[in-house]
Amino acid sequence: MLSQKDLLGLKDLTAEQILSLIDGAFECKKLLLSDCKKSDELKGKTLVTLFYENSTRTRTSFELAGKYLGANEVNISVAASSVQKGETLIDTGRTLDAMKIDFIVIRHSMAGAPALLAKNVKASVINGGDGMHEHPTQALLDMVTLKEKYGTLSGLKVAILGDIKHSRVAMSNLIGLKKLGSEVYLYAPATMLPKDIDKLGAHVCRSREEAVEGADAVMGLRIQLERMNGGLFPSLGEYARYYGVNDNILALAKKGAPVLHPGPVNRGVELTPQVIDGAQSLINEQVTNGVAVRMSILKQLAAFRAANGAVKTANGEKNI
Ligand code: CP
Repeated sequence: MLSQKDLLGLKDLTAEQILSLIDGAFECKKLLLSDCKKSDELKGKTLVTLFYENSTRTRTSFELAGKYLGANEVNISVAASSVQKGETLIDTGRTLDAMKIDFIVIRHSMAGAPALLAKNVKASVINGGDGMHEHPTQALLDMVTLKEKYGTLSGLKVAILGDIKHSRVAMSNLIGLKKLGSEVYLYAPATMLPKDIDKLGAHVCRSREEAVEGADAVMGLRIQLERMNGGLFPSLGEYARYYGVNDNILALAKKGAPVLHPGPVNRGVELTPQVIDGAQSLINEQVTNGVAVRMSILKQLAAFRAANGAVKTANGEKNI
């Protein structure tokens, strides 16, 4: 079970805590797939989504997760908020705190913004993606999808192809998958590989074939055009041809190996349309599991809050 107020990154969690969130997601998925998607486990609690970057999946699935568990849910449109008048992140957080909210899900272009917020508010802060740092809830839903397929995450070979350098998804998956006993094989243009990534335990491959050969799962990544200044690859066509996943590359993986992608997908760039819509694609299942795992996270954070009357913030000790 989680033993902290916030969920900021998988690097902060033990293997047991990650597994308990994944297994909790399987329980939550039963409610999600039932006719009446409603419980009152979070009745009286309030969830705020505060996204400084665009999102479809993460924001909507947190909103739905909260609603399905009976919480009140509010989305702050940053473009229409007092952030535009110069309000700081901390002041925005304290303002929300004063409204007696319980959870803030934040996405921000700056690595470390969720941690800064968490230190300054009583609400539980959940990292919905921060810069090129971590996207823990995405990696958790990826791991739910793989555990659902294989029953375990121990001993799997997971190939991750694409823009590793700018991808918080790749970073969180590498951390989480390694903690649970999988081996992660990476392939990317040299310009899109972070320095020293092998020191985190990744196998850095010299070809797509080496990465995908015998893999239990193949994950494509979106090219994060918003985090680069260009010049990292010659053209989208050449990127697709030399770094993308097509049927021929996928055929090198284990028979039936699932294809994952966090979305949104650039069709025909990271994955061909045939792969996206093919029998091995679990991209839609990832989205479903995203709601379930976010329900699991909210339940565990709520349990922590109920069990702990006070937390430390930058302003001293405060009651939750
Ligand atoms: N995978 C992911 O984070 O998608 P969104 O940007 O739509 O939230």
